[in-house]
Amino acid sequence: MKRIGLLTSGGDAPGMNAAIRAVVRTAIYYGMEVYGIQRGYSGLMDDDMIPMEMRSVSNIVQCGGTKLRTARCLEMLTVEGQKKAVDTIKRRGIEGLVVIGGDGSFRGAKVLSETYGIPTIGIPGTIDNDLEYTDYTLGFDTAVNTCLDIINKLRDTMTSHERISVVEVMGRHCGDIALYSGIASGAEIIVVPEIKFNLDDIVMRINRSRASGKHSNIIVVAEGVMSADEFAKQLQPYTSYPVRPTCIGHVQRGGSPSMADRMLAAQFGNKAVRLLKDGIGNRVVGIKDNKIIDMDIIEAVSMKKVFNHELYETLQMISM
Ligand code: F6P
Repeated sequence: MKRIGLLTSGGDAPGMNAAIRAVVRTAIYYGMEVYGIQRGYSGLMDDDMIPMEMRSVSNIVQCGGTKLRTARCLEMLTVEGQKKAVDTIKRRGIEGLVVIGGDGSFRGAKVLSETYGIPTIGIPGTIDNDLEYTDYTLGFDTAVNTCLDIINKLRDTMTSHERISVVEVMGRHCGDIALYSGIASGAEIIVVPEIKFNLDDIVMRINRSRASGKHSNIIVVAEGVMSADEFAKQLQPYTSYPVRPTCIGHVQRGGSPSMADRMLAAQFGNKAVRLLKDGIGNRVVGIKDNKIIDMDIIEAVSMKKVFNHELYETLQMISM
């Protein structure tokens, strides 16, 4: 394989730039040419791409966001859109593609490889950590660390005023950001889409913690359940402690990637290009039990994310 394309798609995630760098440098190492496709699948359809050199990826390992920019491209779900993308790939002589993105982006990659025979490798880049085949996605660790920083600050002010903080984090269908930031920040309660919440039980946990000498409470709510505002409104009539909502929002998608995300990015990017170099396409890369793995893309996108109930129970036992 002599020429490959690379794009980032869907919501950006810290570590995408570090992965771009790893893909470009590995490809150059193997004597391949790389085109950086801008604005995800939209840019692929519009033939918006630039040749990437060794120095095009200098000084980006530490940067959040994606230098290739990104888009949520609904046109990629249509046959017309897919044909436009394939036309560009053929016209440019691109023999393989690396797609960095989440679930939706992988579905586009699956179509390109399955229906149009273009060898494609997916790198999981999303803060959501909602892909079952991999233990971690790129950006999740940094996003959780950003949430922790904010929750730590909320704990300071909530304790001073003896209040309850309701913190909304991202995650429409997957509660992993809430679960991990809840455990790691010492939040007493998390509310996730995977588990139906019970207001009486939450009030009981708050009262029990106050009775044992606690001066504040943190409730982390995943956005897929409801907004912090709405949750605070529902809770307030059941408690005399003042409830204050905070939505972390897009702040958790930005920022310099953590060590863990940079390490993943280096290994995912390197592995993706090694696969293409060996003529292997239609795979996704990931990490399982601390080992870098690859898997059939069709199998990977068909797996349903399983919520970690053991971690949820751990939080219930140790946060009070
Ligand atoms: O998929 C990543 C994600 O950050 C989700 O957690 C969130 O629900 C969504 O993107 C927000 O999307 P947008 O930035 O397009 O509003």
